[in-house]
Amino acid sequence: MSTDLNQKIYVAGHRGMVGSSIVRNLQAQGFSNIVTRTHAELDLTNQAAVQHFFETERPHQVYLAAAKVGGIHPNNTYPAEFIYDNLMVQNNVIHQAFLAEVKKLLFLGTSCIYPKLAPQPMSEDALLTGKLEPTNEPYAIAKIAGIKMCESYNRQYGASHGIDYRSVMPTNLYGPGDNYHPENSHVIPAIIRRFHEAKIKKLPEVLIWGTGTPRREFLYVDDMAAASVFVMGLDSAVYEKYISPMQSHINVGYGSDVTIAELAKAVGEAVDYQGKISFDSTKPDGAPRKWMDSSRLNRLGWSAKTALQQGLALAYSDFLKTQ
Ligand SMILES: NC(=O)c1ccc[n+]([C@@H]2O[C@H](COP(=O)([O-])OP(=O)(O)OC[C@H]3O[C@@H](n4cnc5c(N)ncnc54)[C@H](OP(=O)(O)O)[C@@H]3O)[C@@H](O)[C@H]2O)c1
Repeated sequence: MSTDLNQKIYVAGHRGMVGSSIVRNLQAQGFSNIVTRTHAELDLTNQAAVQHFFETERPHQVYLAAAKVGGIHPNNTYPAEFIYDNLMVQNNVIHQAFLAEVKKLLFLGTSCIYPKLAPQPMSEDALLTGKLEPTNEPYAIAKIAGIKMCESYNRQYGASHGIDYRSVMPTNLYGPGDNYHPENSHVIPAIIRRFHEAKIKKLPEVLIWGTGTPRREFLYVDDMAAASVFVMGLDSAVYEKYISPMQSHINVGYGSDVTIAELAKAVGEAVDYQGKISFDSTKPDGAPRKWMDSSRLNRLGWSAKTALQQGLALAYSDFLKTQ
């Protein structure tokens, strides 16, 4: 099957970590007609503006990587914004894409959609089987609605309008374009910043919150972008063999997890911090393990390529550019 490299592709959220990586991936493959808008140019929560954008641009494909994203602190502090913005962005983009006859759309979700106590590794069929983690429930509810929106549009309009809207659920991501904010960032950028500052200030010790024993999975963002482009490009006949109409989302993980202590050691090596790494076990650990079952995607023919040590070195050189 030949790919039309001139087809118009809208990447929503192209200045974000994932969106920018999707743009790099598409450009590297020779796609030459990529449409983007900054948040300032197009507020995706504004229905009329999104409608006008789609009526004017009429893209062939959409990658929906725009979202309000953050760690525990912002999720806890701004729950109203997390549910409102995410629902509005995805409702507007998915519905207006449909009205503008966009045939293919990829929605980016998150592993937070799975219940707090989901069996590990978390497989796609764990969705809606239990209570969510309360701290990010509003964000997760919006993302679940996004999956169900794609599925519902496929079910109602797939045959009549030839649409095929798919969803991918990334594990924790890291890499170029990450948010290194001291309070609002995810675990890897936060630890990179801590080790870097300790190295500069020649501090003898870095204290990491918790016992260091929880296990987490991390995926390098360029692998996530590659997986996104891969899933978007899957032939319908192949894709439909692995999904069902009401359970169509696909997990994207690295395939294995590490303890926070192992992660901290690897970040220390990437940053070349020579001091001691200690753990503050009076601070909460969170869930003992969060690990995605990515076997559906593996069976479809994709697996992650970037090992943690290699990815962390690339992430650290990106962090240095922000200093
Ligand atoms: N990062 C992770 O570890 C991770 C893990 C799992 C899933 N994901 C998912 O991957 C997707 C992308 O995440 P990311 O890490 O790339 O996030 P990000 O770096 O924060 O990028 C999100 C982008 O969306 C834009 N955006 C947000 N609200 C908008 C609005 N109302 N109108 C227009 N643009 C808007 C942001 O622009 P401004 O910055 O100007 O607001 C930003 O450029 C999200 O769906 C997220 O849920 C991420």
